This record gives sequence, C-alpha cells and structure tokens, in this order.
Amino acid sequence: MGIETSCDETGVGIVRGHELLADAVASSVDEHARFGGVVPEVASRAHLEAMVPTVQRALDDAGLTLADLDGIAVTAGPGLAGALMVGVGAAKAYSLATGIPLYGVNHLSAHIAVDTLENGPIPEPAIGLLVSGGHSSIMMVEDLAGKVTQLGASIDDAAGEAFDKVARLLGLPFPGGPYIDKAAKEGDRAFVRFPRGLTAAKDMEKHRYDFSFSGLKTAVARWIEAQRAEGNNVPVNDVAAAFQEAVCDVLTQKAILAAKEHGVGTILLGGGVAANSRLRTLAVERAEDAGITLRYPRPKLCTDNGAMVAALGSHLVSAGVAPSVIDFPANSSMDVEVVSLANRL
Ligand code: KG4
Ligand code: ZN
Repeated sequence: MGIETSCDETGVGIVRGHELLADAVASSVDEHARFGGVVPEVASRAHLEAMVPTVQRALDDAGLTLADLDGIAVTAGPGLAGALMVGVGAAKAYSLATGIPLYGVNHLSAHIAVDTLENGPIPEPAIGLLVSGGHSSIMMVEDLAGKVTQLGASIDDAAGEAFDKVARLLGLPFPGGPYIDKAAKEGDRAFVRFPRGLTAAKDMEKHRYDFSFSGLKTAVARWIEAQRAEGNNVPVNDVAAAFQEAVCDVLTQKAILAAKEHGVGTILLGGGVAANSRLRTLAVERAEDAGITLRYPRPKLCTDNGAMVAALGSHLVSAGVAPSVIDFPANSSMDVEVVSLANRL
C-alpha cells in the first residue's frame, strides 16, 4: 500500500507486483481554487479528514484488509511539510499497529516508478523526465531501487508552476496545466515564438540539461500586457498553444539530448505535466526520430496519487531493500536523489 500526501491529493494505492489493485484519491483542489494556489494549512486539514476513509476505500476497492499487506510505503518528501506529516504519521500508525514493514520514499522517484504499473519493469539505465508542479528534472535512473541521479533541473520555476502562472495571466482556473492543454488544442502553436530558456550556445555549456521557465513566463506576461495596452483582445487559445510549445520544445529537446549523450535507449515521462497532450505527442515524435523508446503512464497516474508510492514500495520490497527505521521525519526538502530512507541506514 502506498500513501501520498505531499500536496493537495490524499492518495492511497494498492499494488501487487506491477498490478494496480486500487487507486483511491481524495483531492482538496476545489478548496484552493479561489486562492489561485494550494494553501498549505487547508491541504493539511483536508488530508487529516480524508486519510482514514481513503485507506478504507482503497482496501475495499482491492477486496483486501490491512492484514493482507506486505509493506506500507509513504511519501516522506519533498512536499509541503504539514501535508507530508499527516501521511507519514498515518503510515507509521498503520505500520506500528499491524507490524507491517514501513518504507519512507521519495515522491519524485515514485513519479518514475508508477510507469511500471502500465508498462512493466523499467529498462535500466533509463532517463526520467520528471515534470511536476514543484520540480522539473532530468534524472538518470540506473537502479530504481537506489541509484537515481539528477543530470539537470529547473534553475527557477518548475514546468507545472509555469503552466499555472501563465494560466492565471490568461484568466484560466487553477490548476492551470489542464486548462492550457485544452485551450491550446484550439490554438496556433506558431502564433508567437516565445523564448526557449537555456538553449543558447553559451547556456548549453553551463546548463546543458537544466531548464528555466521564469523568463518565458515574463515574456508571455509582457506580450499580454502590450496587447491589452493597445486595446487588442488576447487570443487565449493561441497564447496557450504558443506557450505550451515553448515548454514542450525545451523539455523534449533536452531529455533526448541527455539520453543520446549518455547512450541510454529509454526515456520515461513522469509528474503532473507528463499528462500534457502536446508534451506526449512531441516526445513520441522526437524519440522515434532519435531511435529512443519513450514510455509514459496514463494521465491519471501522472498527477499525484497513491498508486505511484505503492509502485515504488513494491519495487523496493522485491529488490530486497530494507524498510525504514520508524523515527524518520517528513522532509519537505528531501534530496531528489534519495529514493527511500532505507538507503541512508
Ligand atoms: O505531479 P503533480 O500532480 O504535483 C506535484 O508533484 O507538483 O503536478 C501538478 C502540476 C500542476 O502544476 C498542474 O498544472 C500540472 O501538473 N498539470 C499539467 C497537466 N495536468 C496537470 N500541466 C500541463 N498539462 C496538463 N495536462
Ligand atoms: Zn507530484
């Protein structure tokens, strides 16, 4: 069983090997929408209220009881401190009460591991393009049970954050990613050419596999302001499509470059932004041209859920990784390269 509470989704998933048995998610997103972003205290309280019913729902969906479980995995970080504490506290209580081994795991590795539920074991090494509301990284996955290294990451905003901020500029609801995705389907992606961060020759020396989305967000804001100042209507669908193209172009270019330069034949997409339809299409096209296999899970498994934590937990159990010592803390800034807390014993 996997428990996820790092942001605004209370997720409880149950897997057997690579088979998904239950994926119960209770989201507090509607409670945050009017603030235009996740309010940590509201999220923590919602997790507290949803925790036990969501665990029960997952067990019922799977037709199991707690006694049937071989392991409990929980997101130990990174994420919102108060939100993480609810999941970690609950997981410890379930583990103590039942004697079932407990694994404190990394949210980002779980975003990669979830792909096994859809596409089976991950060929190692693989490159993980991890794009969520809090992170945008290119990861080298040599061993999903313990050796995951970061080749590059965003030096400012995460990709999902850029989607959310640009959606706000365009008057679209929160969280903006899915709304931009939808609007862009009706828009012209060549309408304006927005900047591709860190792709100039000098940046490619120092920041070869890094991203930057803050300049792009500012460019979109300036463009919108200029239109409004001249009394023009802002074509929401076209701006959404052109912005989305700039993000997806850089993400796919750099992930493929990393795979080629490291001689790796597989790229996995993971994280909420991996649900983006244009990112998926462009990544498939470019990977095919480069002779690289591209894998991604279905959209519902890309955004936060408990199944991804269970998938990673299941992988750790079958790889023989030791469980975590029960006194581990929730760690809001957990190192992206620590797969599970058992590694540090
Ligand atoms: O992985 P996730 O659910 O939570 C974090 O770990 O951060 O990612 C949430 C992010 C949000 O920024 C949301 O706008 C974005 O993923 N997102 C999308 C799409 N669906 C979710 N971005 C672009 N296109 C989508 N279809
Ligand atoms: Zn996430």
